[in-house]
Amino acid sequence: MDIEEPVTVLGLGAMGTALARALLRAGHPVTVWNRTPARADALVPEGARVAPDPAAAVAASPLTVVCLLDDAAVATVLDPLGDALAGTTLVNLTSGTPEQARATATRLTARGAQVLAGTIMVPTPLVGTPDALVLYSGATAVHERHRTTLEAFGRTDLLGTDPGRAALFDLGMLDVFFAGMAAFLHAAAVVGGDGITGAEFAPYAEQVIAILPETFRGLAADVDAARHPGHEDNLVMNAAALGHIVATSRARGLDPALPELIRRLAQRAIDRGHGADGFSRIVEEFGMVVTGAVR
Ligand SMILES: NC(=O)c1ccc[n+]([C@@H]2O[C@H](COP(=O)([O-])OP(=O)(O)OC[C@H]3O[C@@H](n4cnc5c(N)ncnc54)[C@H](OP(=O)(O)O)[C@@H]3O)[C@@H](O)[C@H]2O)c1
Repeated sequence: MDIEEPVTVLGLGAMGTALARALLRAGHPVTVWNRTPARADALVPEGARVAPDPAAAVAASPLTVVCLLDDAAVATVLDPLGDALAGTTLVNLTSGTPEQARATATRLTARGAQVLAGTIMVPTPLVGTPDALVLYSGATAVHERHRTTLEAFGRTDLLGTDPGRAALFDLGMLDVFFAGMAAFLHAAAVVGGDGITGAEFAPYAEQVIAILPETFRGLAADVDAARHPGHEDNLVMNAAALGHIVATSRARGLDPALPELIRRLAQRAIDRGHGADGFSRIVEEFGMVVTGAVR
């Protein structure tokens, strides 16, 4: 007898397959559908039932997890279902922008569905492990009702009722991730120009990473308070250090665009009279918006 909540998974790419597997492992009856049907084959011996079309898939379970390539694919699959979505719960784990998450949630809610928007913050091998994190936003009651089921994927953090918030946190985390990886690769190219290997340099890069959590907390406090004290280090000193990175890049024939961008942001703040302030002052150079107010 089925005792766990039945769940449908729409989309069996790398991530949708990992989600379906995590649900099967947790003992849920799982119905799947994928545009290319052959991708469901591997899941059948593991217990998945295959639906012939999206309408039958959604009708098979009270909860449907949607994990497709992008927002356009979600519209292609779900919009034709129209009123057949009434009364069902959709958890959309397709990545996109906050604007897309809000518009899609509004459209699906208008069809009578209860909608939770989410973003998966880990690669497929971590799905279903204690290290997995999935961010959600949307109605608290919907999250609460299906929380135990969603825990099959990993930690489930509900970030608020605005459906765009999960995507916002996702993009914010990716912003930090990509900038960090690109900075490491630029640094590896600079030291590599003088024959230092990436492996030789990596432990020293890790020394910098170790101070970032405390640094981020300090920057966050400055940003939230709109105060940018520069008593420990100031923008003039920071801009000089950035200038050294730019000069060293150029001297090795490397593209200095990354440090040059940061140096330019610091210089703009200095030119506006903030040279004695701390590094957090450059948030204003991005046209910072905090809780609706442009500072
Ligand atoms: N993979 C990861 O590590 C990872 C990590 C975090 C978040 N995510 C997010 O998870 C989502 C899915 O990623 P993925 O890695 O599973 O991608 P994927 O392997 O490329 O799979 C894409 C899925 O979307 C379907 N699809 C694409 N266009 C479609 C359309 N027009 N109509 C119907 N179905 C369509 C594909 O169906 P077909 O099989 O028929 O092509 C397939 O099921 C993305 O939003 C991604 O950003 C992925």
